[in-house]
Amino acid sequence: MADEEWPGALGPVICVVGARPNFMKMAPILRAFGGHRPSLPTLLVHTGQHYDNDMNDRLFVDLRLPHPDLNLEVGSGTHAVQTAEVMRRFEPVLDAQRPSCVLVVGDVNSTLACTLVCAKKGVPVVHVEAGLRSFDRAMPEEINRVLTDQMADRLYTTERSALANLLREGVAEERVCFVGNVMIDSLLANRAFARPAATTLQMAGFDPGLIGDPQGYGVVTLHRPSNVDSEQRLALLLGVLREVSDQLPLVFALHPRTRANIERFGLGELLNSRRIVLLPPQGYLEMLGLMVAAKLVLSDSGGLQEETTALGVPCLTIRENTERPITIEQGTNTLVGCDARAIRQGVDEILSGAGKTGRVPEFWDGRAAERIAADLSSWLIGRHAQRGH
Ligand code: UD1
Repeated sequence: MADEEWPGALGPVICVVGARPNFMKMAPILRAFGGHRPSLPTLLVHTGQHYDNDMNDRLFVDLRLPHPDLNLEVGSGTHAVQTAEVMRRFEPVLDAQRPSCVLVVGDVNSTLACTLVCAKKGVPVVHVEAGLRSFDRAMPEEINRVLTDQMADRLYTTERSALANLLREGVAEERVCFVGNVMIDSLLANRAFARPAATTLQMAGFDPGLIGDPQGYGVVTLHRPSNVDSEQRLALLLGVLREVSDQLPLVFALHPRTRANIERFGLGELLNSRRIVLLPPQGYLEMLGLMVAAKLVLSDSGGLQEETTALGVPCLTIRENTERPITIEQGTNTLVGCDARAIRQGVDEILSGAGKTGRVPEFWDGRAAERIAADLSSWLIGRHAQRGH
């Protein structure tokens, strides 16, 4: 269908973003949809779950994401309030726009909220990054993943293990398509523009010499409620970071949730060291530059596990489980839990040269979004034709 026109009666694809980890997934998708023939018309809706400059605006610029067509401005709240508010504000958008389908990415509250509205109104849902499972229902993201996949009509997966998870939950195989990882599309497209770590430190007012240690430096992020909402757990983790910093200078990009809890629990003293650089949430190109040159990454993020695997940088994940097992089996990721001894041992291994080197998984090749554009275009046009238009 190379030179075909997009059928006039088919509405746009509404593409939804809400929180930071959605932005790097959506940028390559929008580019691929525009570049596909026929190009897929899109409407970008931002729920406003993440809203401030550090978590939002800078990333739009870095990723060259177009300004959202609509912003629902939901802001913060409890999970129930945030989810309900997205639903309430998204419903009239569907009524007004009459989309051909709604495309959601990842596992944040906005992903589930928009999916649920569509399911009730009979609008097809397309889920990118389907089928990942941590099997830990205490994680809000796991609930979002399971429910979104139950309701989605077309499911795109990043790794082959996702299909088995979906089949086990009764999802029909013909709804699932393995395309690879759009997050890695973004990483490969932007790698050449990554900002050098020394420049990032300098711009933030720190001496770039702080990361000039012969051992190199480590990058840290923490934001998962299970790690940062309990005073005892957060204190334990910050204590280990302090110990690790004696061996390796650390650059710690603080999520707003974590910063607030460090203040609330009065734990700031634990990070008061010349060898720990505290930064606000970083832009995409800054984070990429920090990771590329790092000796190791210590984090509880979902995305960083994949990005470090693609970059070949060892990652110690401060969680008991992961929904991205390929990063352990093939990549550079190791689960260390919230266990001080395991974290110290992991760091020692990496510093002694015994860290994982890994390999890049199948289809993490920078072309996942193109595969989605090709498949979604034929799926939508095929469905449209079947309905006798
Ligand atoms: C959300 C996602 C998580 C993702 C993470 C990345 C869910 C359930 N969780 O968690 O999957 O890995 O984003 O960042 O959707 N805040 C700001 N400025 C902002 C955004 C948030 O200060 O721009 C504050 C909020 O007021 C709140 C805290 O950060 O106190 C947490 O924000 P929230 O969106 O509830 O969840 P995250 O922990 O960011």
